[in-house]
Amino acid sequence: MGQKKLIRFAAIKSFSNVLEYPENMPGTWGSFFASAQPLTLELACGKGEYAVGLGQMFPKRNFLGVDVKGNRIFIGAKRALAMGLGNVGFMRTQIDRIDQYFAPGEVAEIWLTFPDPQLRTGHARKRLTHPNFLRRYQRFLQPGACINLKTDSPVLHAFTLLVIEHYGCSLVTNYTNVYGEATEPELLTIQTHYEGLDIAQSGRIFYLRFQLPDVIDAAKDEAFKQAGVGAGAGNTSIGSRFMKVQLKEGEDYYYSPEGYMVLTEKYHLERGVCCGNGCRHCPYAYVRVPEPRKSHLLQQQAAKSDTRTDKPV
Ligand SMILES: C[S@@+](CC[C@H](N)C(=O)[O-])C[C@H]1O[C@@H](n2cnc3c(N)ncnc32)[C@H](O)[C@@H]1O
Repeated sequence: MGQKKLIRFAAIKSFSNVLEYPENMPGTWGSFFASAQPLTLELACGKGEYAVGLGQMFPKRNFLGVDVKGNRIFIGAKRALAMGLGNVGFMRTQIDRIDQYFAPGEVAEIWLTFPDPQLRTGHARKRLTHPNFLRRYQRFLQPGACINLKTDSPVLHAFTLLVIEHYGCSLVTNYTNVYGEATEPELLTIQTHYEGLDIAQSGRIFYLRFQLPDVIDAAKDEAFKQAGVGAGAGNTSIGSRFMKVQLKEGEDYYYSPEGYMVLTEKYHLERGVCCGNGCRHCPYAYVRVPEPRKSHLLQQQAAKSDTRTDKPV
């Protein structure tokens, strides 16, 4: 291990706002923070930009960043201490064990910030929005609590939509381009280290906010597995098309010259409804897109109709 990492690992041991693989935590979080307040988790927090950013924005809530990498946590924890944020803390542990740390109802909200999309076939179970993880979260989330996913991965976004639909979660917000669509700009423009790296090269940031159903039904797992959810980037799955799960590049979607994944008109026709997201090839006259955007998109579509070169449509 490098010298810098060793120094950081030693440093977090003395930080009052960091816990490493703690024991006997359920029900005690109120006393870890300066005040007992509603608790939000940032899972896969890395350097904890969201934990710190939200901690500044919402002093009446507590924020706990969780990651296994102590040298990354060091950065966020040091910042929080320097800023005197008594409502921000960090826990170094494996997220796979997250349910052992909280009592039922102890957590009010979860943020998943650029978690690894786990693109390889067979790695879908490691995605932090896989139903197995959602079941862990459900053990300690308050009823109706929201889970927020921010990602640059079209695959993780599509996979999560599939999970939401298949298991009957409630979709609260779905942005396929945060910086083009978001109406909560302050919350969503907190920039993380991985957001800046643009590893997926999708040219956009996706955001999903959803709530869990009362039961994440194990009887639905087999059909979910059969749906080929381990698919990688060129072999993706989209929630509303659960019966036709394998999307084909060139038929159902294509990539624009800027690298955006664009769903075709054929895809939308098979889907059968306007999703309200203002898709480029919407055949439903954008009926579910709110004004004034709807009129603007209709004008754009009409202007393009004679000169369109996008293939396929
Ligand atoms: C792609 S990085 C994102 C970090 C940060 N949220 C950002 O946006 O810059 C994913 C993070 O998840 C953490 N991670 C992945 N799997 C984990 C696990 N099972 N338990 C704890 N942390 C995990 C990694 O250590 C890494 O810091």
